[in-house]
Amino acid sequence: MSARRILVRSVVVLALALVLAGGGFFLWASVAADRSMARSFDTHEVDFPIPFPLDPAEVAREGLTDAEAEAMALERARERGRHLVEARYACAECHGADYGGGVMVDAFPIGRLLGPNLTRGQGGVTPGYSVADWDRIVRHGVRPDGRPAVMPSEDFLRMSDQELSDIIVYLESVPPVDHEVPPSRLGPLGRILMARGEIVLSADLISTHDEPHPALPPPAEVSVEFGRHLAGVCSGCHGMELTGGRIAGGDPSWVPAADLTPSGLPGWDYADFRLAMLESRRPDGSEIREPMTFVTPFARNMTEVEMQALWMYLQSLPAAPELEGSRRSP
Ligand code: HEC
Ligand code: HEC
Repeated sequence: MSARRILVRSVVVLALALVLAGGGFFLWASVAADRSMARSFDTHEVDFPIPFPLDPAEVAREGLTDAEAEAMALERARERGRHLVEARYACAECHGADYGGGVMVDAFPIGRLLGPNLTRGQGGVTPGYSVADWDRIVRHGVRPDGRPAVMPSEDFLRMSDQELSDIIVYLESVPPVDHEVPPSRLGPLGRILMARGEIVLSADLISTHDEPHPALPPPAEVSVEFGRHLAGVCSGCHGMELTGGRIAGGDPSWVPAADLTPSGLPGWDYADFRLAMLESRRPDGSEIREPMTFVTPFARNMTEVEMQALWMYLQSLPAAPELEGSRRSP
């Protein structure tokens, strides 16, 4: 055999081996990802009123009848719920502006992760949900049937019972939308990332599924405690310690999240922070990029007290050491 033919043959054999190994690897990743999504999680069974009733002292003081007190409780819960989803918990970001279904990630090799219809219209998944089912999906990342969801529920871990109750009241009040949303699907890269543990499901990230949730949120005042409560929704992208870095499971084109501790925002004051949140602009005038820009429309609905509490909390954090990839390059 000539040297050339041996060379050609080795190249063919090598290519074949690579394809087989690649195929085998992908098959393994696929099976591992399917197995991961087919697991069943045990969570506690919580119950709370929908809506939360008025304070009995107020009912007595105002001399309200039961019917008046109930109607007022419902109205207040709906208004609180509207503010919660419009300024803070951002369900519309993935479930659509009309809550009739939306997109979390639609990027081919990662997959199509779609937010189902949350209204009472056709294709809505929540009619028939018990209070425990709402708790499972929103604060544990677990579907009513016990299987893990791809929704980043760790963002909602600090949500109190009253807040969740308010959100349920609000969602039940929005106009029904008829829209069937197809099930979420992981693409080949999504499966490989999941098999390699680079996409971590919320149900795994949330370490306890039986710890009681607070009944009420901290008082809405400019305090570190309230700020910490509000910052729960920043951790899905900025990390549990808010030190920034690559956004796991996000669209591959997204830039890493910034370090939000004092080391990441050196020299910033409250006005700089406010401008960044409302106008997506840094003190030096540079633009803050996607996906932080998804947060801006919600931040614009925050109250001044919420914005100041958030800043007070960020300023109270220990400065993070400069982490690899945790800073933007404008
Ligand atoms: C970052 C995107 C994102 C946000 C924000 C988000 N969701 Fe979801 N949600 C999803 C995705 C994606 C699914 C589908 C999960 C799956 O198929 O594994 C989902 C599923 C659901 C389901 C249906 C679970 C089922 O299969 O029965 C409910 C209910 C739900 N979300 C409620 C909410 C509420 C309430 C909020 C706001 C507090 C919210 N979501 C915020 C992405 C999101
Ligand atoms: C969907 C993901 C996501 C969420 C949720 C999110 N951020 Fe960001 N944020 C980012 C990314 C990515 C950057 C970096 C953008 C860039 O480099 O242009 C960023 C940048 C910022 C910056 C500018 C810092 C700088 O110098 O670049 C601030 C301030 C900030 N985020 C605050 C917050 C706060 C507060 C919250 C919660 C209320 C939050 N973010 C929630 C993704 C997110």
